[in-house]
Amino acid sequence: MHPEVIIHNSVSLDHAVRGFDVDLGQHYGALLALEPEAVLVGSATAKSGLEMFHDISEPEAEPDRHRRDVRPDDPRPIFVIVDSRGVLQNLLHFYRNMEHTKDVVVLVAEATPMDYLDYLREREYPFIRCGKSRVDLRGAIRELSERFGITRVVSDSGPELNDVLIREGIADTISLIVHPTIAGEGEKKLFDKAGGRVALELREAAPMEQGTVHLVYAVKR
Ligand SMILES: NC(=O)c1ccc[n+]([C@@H]2O[C@H](COP(=O)([O-])OP(=O)(O)OC[C@H]3O[C@@H](n4cnc5c(N)ncnc54)[C@H](OP(=O)(O)O)[C@@H]3O)[C@@H](O)[C@H]2O)c1
Repeated sequence: MHPEVIIHNSVSLDHAVRGFDVDLGQHYGALLALEPEAVLVGSATAKSGLEMFHDISEPEAEPDRHRRDVRPDDPRPIFVIVDSRGVLQNLLHFYRNMEHTKDVVVLVAEATPMDYLDYLREREYPFIRCGKSRVDLRGAIRELSERFGITRVVSDSGPELNDVLIREGIADTISLIVHPTIAGEGEKKLFDKAGGRVALELREAAPMEQGTVHLVYAVKR
């Protein structure tokens, strides 16, 4: 079975994902309320998150090289990173150590550099290799469901990855926290490369604090 895939973004009124102050408490509160079993993140998002909040020159310690025990009753989601080019090489221990995630799984492709695959194997990061030059997202998410029993994935990514999820008909739901601001020209915008027309059905429209509005749409097929 294919898991449910939800895109979750905080956006300006002109659908930029940055260039304005995102309320992170609201963003992650609403994300967790979607009860993800896996949080899907693109490599650019994952790297920029680390650069924002960590000193990425900090090397891994010996315990960081080993996979933690995963209890079946642990309610925390797993963190799933799309990284066909090995952008996160030598940085994944930061995610392994994050308290709100129970495991880290990496999606790679046939073209992924061998030294990155060796890095993943040596450190016991489970990975799914699916797709030729880039990750075949539909196939990789299906395998994620089969291997890890995942039934709901929330994508906490930027426009590049989330647009592919729309373009390839993978996303089932779109959850947007719309901030009362126009980011203006120069910022990458969500859905600019989402392909042709996509019909949506409004499921929720709830005002939140700070003048934001939470909109949830089902993608109609
Ligand atoms: N406001 C928000 O809600 C929010 C949420 C998340 C992120 N952000 C911001 O968004 C920015 C990053 O966004 P971004 O769009 O540049 O990066 P991104 O979302 O991380 O997208 C890049 C990822 O998409 C994958 N990808 C792109 N096209 C693909 C395809 N055709 N098939 C398979 N995989 C494909 C890339 O794979 P490869 O591995 O092959 O390169 C890479 O892993 C950051 O500034 C971050 O802070 C904002």
